[in-house]
Amino acid sequence: MERTLSIIKPDGVRRALVGEVIKRFEQAGIRIAAMKMLHLSREQAKAFYAVHRERPFYDSLTEFMSSGPIVVMVLEADGAIQKNRDLMGATNFKDAAPGTIRHDFATDIEQNVVHGSDAPATALTEIAFFFSALEMV
Ligand code: CMP
Repeated sequence: MERTLSIIKPDGVRRALVGEVIKRFEQAGIRIAAMKMLHLSREQAKAFYAVHRERPFYDSLTEFMSSGPIVVMVLEADGAIQKNRDLMGATNFKDAAPGTIRHDFATDIEQNVVHGSDAPATALTEIAFFFSALEMV
């Protein structure tokens, strides 16, 4: 079993897409091992996305990610990282395949409803950013 981090971003929470996104995970056979809602400070958003600090969209991205509550989840499945990426679709909703979350709901390359870890090492770091071992069931 593999674990990955999923975030329903502020646009997804504001637009009442939490249930829709979770339904897609569950219907794909993904188990939710941990979940909580929180509101990142700007500094916390900057720390989470530190890998992008040199990118031109870093300021805007961290402002957006701290603009409202998010839902963070640890997803568990065989191949959870790829399964989640397949469900999300491409980062840019214009390139996302029909039936993916970003194709169906994203409105913007930045406001793309969900985040998912992109590799095993990133998943470990991102899960540890939000959850302690005791919070995972
Ligand atoms: P995410 O999967 O969370 O990883 C980094 C985020 O940066 C990405 O989703 C988008 O929200 C945002 N992002 C990526 N590329 C761009 C871009 N070219 N312009 C603005 N935001 C971007």
